[in-house]
Amino acid sequence: MIIKKQTRLRGEIDIPGDKSISHRAIMIGSLAAGTTRIRHFLTGADCLSTISCFRKMGIQIEQRSDEILVHGKGLHGLMPPKAILDAGNSGTTTRLMSGILAGQRFDSQIDGDASLRARPMKRIMEPLTQMGAEIKSVSGEAKLPLLLSGRTFPLHAITYHSPIASAQVKSCILFAGMYADGETSVAEPVVSRNHTEVMLNSFGAKVTTQNRTAAIAPEPVLTARDIMVPGDISSAAYFLAAGLITPESEILLKAVGMNPTRDGMLRVLREMGADITVLNRNDEAEPYADLLVRTSSLKGTVIEGDIIPSLIDELPMLAVLAAFAEGKTIIRDAKELRVKESDRIISVTNGLAAMGADVVPTEDGMIIQGGKPLHGGIIDSCLDHRIAMSFAVAGTVCEGDQKIKGADCVKISYPDFYDHLNKLSES
Ligand code: S3P
Repeated sequence: MIIKKQTRLRGEIDIPGDKSISHRAIMIGSLAAGTTRIRHFLTGADCLSTISCFRKMGIQIEQRSDEILVHGKGLHGLMPPKAILDAGNSGTTTRLMSGILAGQRFDSQIDGDASLRARPMKRIMEPLTQMGAEIKSVSGEAKLPLLLSGRTFPLHAITYHSPIASAQVKSCILFAGMYADGETSVAEPVVSRNHTEVMLNSFGAKVTTQNRTAAIAPEPVLTARDIMVPGDISSAAYFLAAGLITPESEILLKAVGMNPTRDGMLRVLREMGADITVLNRNDEAEPYADLLVRTSSLKGTVIEGDIIPSLIDELPMLAVLAAFAEGKTIIRDAKELRVKESDRIISVTNGLAAMGADVVPTEDGMIIQGGKPLHGGIIDSCLDHRIAMSFAVAGTVCEGDQKIKGADCVKISYPDFYDHLNKLSES
């Protein structure tokens, strides 16, 4: 994909549905009694992987043009899959579904693509094993493919102190906790996104949250409901950034999720001097609002500590943005970037260096000296959707063509991304 410099970006974007919430809606809808109707579902490849896995376990899922219907069969209604469950590129599918599979009476096997096969699974294998689940990796290296053995008695309830702030780990344990013999709780070093807790409660489960600990009562009776998925703030991030750094721009992003465990990027952008107005705020369990962004001059900042989990997926975009800001930006405490769809410390710093930016990778982040004139480069997306989109945005402002290799991977979370970018440059 070749991205050219734009004179301005103007218009309105309907931000696609939240990826995390879309996955959870399929999973929890499958385990609820009755038909769950999901509107504004994200039909990105990752969420389609989740649909395909639950279909393989006997759940009828209807995909219509404007909604998804999940005909749930209750907590114990899944059927043994006749084939390997293919999670594709999706860490969320793998880790959350493992929690559900750990409590089933049947055996199952999960696999994924080369990127997913390289990602760590010890983080879920350890707590699930403590709960009495039998979960093994074929290679013996705590990576995919994973084999889960069925069991006829409940899992043990545990109190787990997670060494990392990860919603995937927390959700995996909470899901397994539905099949346990008592209350299961997970304490995190910093609170991660809470979509699982919010959605389980809205389906009738009892999940309580205190400080950094979430606890679930076993054997919840889940009842189907209608879900309206808000726009994904992680997808909005690209157009927030594009609007800020492209001259004479004004972009309205519609119905963007504003869950406080996900809004760290907005806080950082304000600190950097961004002009972003929040409009039509709606305070549902999953809050959302429209965001109006205008061109702004940005200054560097420090991104560290407790805010990291609330903007973890936005760090590639923030790092690229920092190269366009005045002064130095330091990102630290973000070692988790190393185990995402690519090693995002390497993929971001390589991409920035190819554009002529002054950037130094560190063990747990990077240091960017902003304000250097940037030129288009040949950017390796490393088949990581967030890298492709972050550098496409940079291409709208830098001198010369920006060439993105493996640009197609945006289909993972934002299939219409390039169309939306084009639409803004034409209006
Ligand atoms: C996700 C949690 C985050 C995030 C991922 C989606 C989720 O991962 O990076 O894109 O839906 O729970 P970790 O929980 O591993 O930090």
